[in-house]
Amino acid sequence: VHAAAGSPVHGAQHETGTPGGARGVTSLTADPDRPADVAVSLVARRQRFRLATGRSVDGYTLNGVSPGPEIRARAGQLVEVRLVNASVPDGVTLHWHGVDVPNAADGVAGVTQDAVPPGRSFTYRFVADQAGTFWYHSHQMSHEQVRRGLLGALVVSPAAPPPAGTVDVVALLHLYEGARTVNGREGDLRAEARPGERVRVRVVNTENGQTPVWVGGAPFRLLAVDGTDLNGPAPVRDTAVLVTAGGRADIEVTMPADGSPVRVHIGGPAGVVLGSRSYDAPAAARPTATLDLLSYGKPAPIGFDPAKADRRFTYDIGRRPGFLDGRPGVWWTVNGHMYPDVPMFVVAEGDVVRMRVSNHSGETHPMHLHGHHAVVLARDGVPATGAPWWVDSLEVGNGESYDIAFVADNPGIWMDHCHNLPHATEGLVAHLMYE
Ligand code: C2O
Ligand code: CU
Repeated sequence: VHAAAGSPVHGAQHETGTPGGARGVTSLTADPDRPADVAVSLVARRQRFRLATGRSVDGYTLNGVSPGPEIRARAGQLVEVRLVNASVPDGVTLHWHGVDVPNAADGVAGVTQDAVPPGRSFTYRFVADQAGTFWYHSHQMSHEQVRRGLLGALVVSPAAPPPAGTVDVVALLHLYEGARTVNGREGDLRAEARPGERVRVRVVNTENGQTPVWVGGAPFRLLAVDGTDLNGPAPVRDTAVLVTAGGRADIEVTMPADGSPVRVHIGGPAGVVLGSRSYDAPAAARPTATLDLLSYGKPAPIGFDPAKADRRFTYDIGRRPGFLDGRPGVWWTVNGHMYPDVPMFVVAEGDVVRMRVSNHSGETHPMHLHGHHAVVLARDGVPATGAPWWVDSLEVGNGESYDIAFVADNPGIWMDHCHNLPHATEGLVAHLMYE
């Protein structure tokens, strides 16, 4: 486990192992006697703490820092995390965002466990069977606790040892009391990379809104989205990638032969500066072009036939006046119903599920499905032509509709909610349940 958030990991794997085709059916429930390969203890506290620049923040920490320790595992390893609540008055949990864990480890207070009260602990165990970029965060009063720092990055590398000459760095975006940070620091994060080296920058967007990422000084490839490699991604330049709230994007840059540095912009002038002799990379203006993931990369089999769906659902997002917890307001609706009266989506294990997610609520919603990855089939009825685009977090703009499909291969009760977390507090939540 690398607990040094912000330091690049040299020699870590370039994930060429699984091109973006089928995601394996999960093999999740570990033998209870199997010892952990990666064992971590995380102690949650309510406290004031300082960002690297010295700014004082009133929030929460894990092992005294926020973001919490960067957890690294290899595919197939058993990860065991003991969460201790030292002093979070409202209780705390940990959700493994994007990892299709067994339901009991999903960390949703009130659904899969009770929030851990002060003085108590809870142990999460899961097999990290999918290599990729993930993150973890509290799922108790999520809006408040995530915003104030109960979060961290989780990276699962492929099982095979890494080739030499690659650099792997996490860039976790978070706003602390309005201060925009990457790995908890305001301003640029610097990572050493020599000419010709390939660098994988794992962008994690923990914010409530979508963020653009672009690169100045070199072309880049978008290797993976939401912990899943794309198939045959081509290099692009002068193009931005939009990273959904809660989503991840893995960017690969090959360092220029002449030794000039490269700037990966994360939502603005600041971001990650890659270099060796110098880190003096000028800012590049945000490109007007945006990568369309519906047509990026090369098609590949997805491992099931979405035309033969066992279940078809609509997840239609609207708004209407009503009462939520006795408070009057204009609240979100799912299929015309207000939380908590939204009928569950019921599936049986093994079902191929299709869902049309549509939005006429007047605002954008980054929709996050727990426990499963879905493949995007179409937007506004226009079918995908690129690599299989697997998501756990999908930005659905007002007026848009997406057709997605997934295999119900992970029994339990799973949230499917908006990751603009104030919206989830305002009821934009539904559940998927196995019969
Ligand atoms: Cu990242 Cu239900 O959450
Ligand atoms: Cu929303």
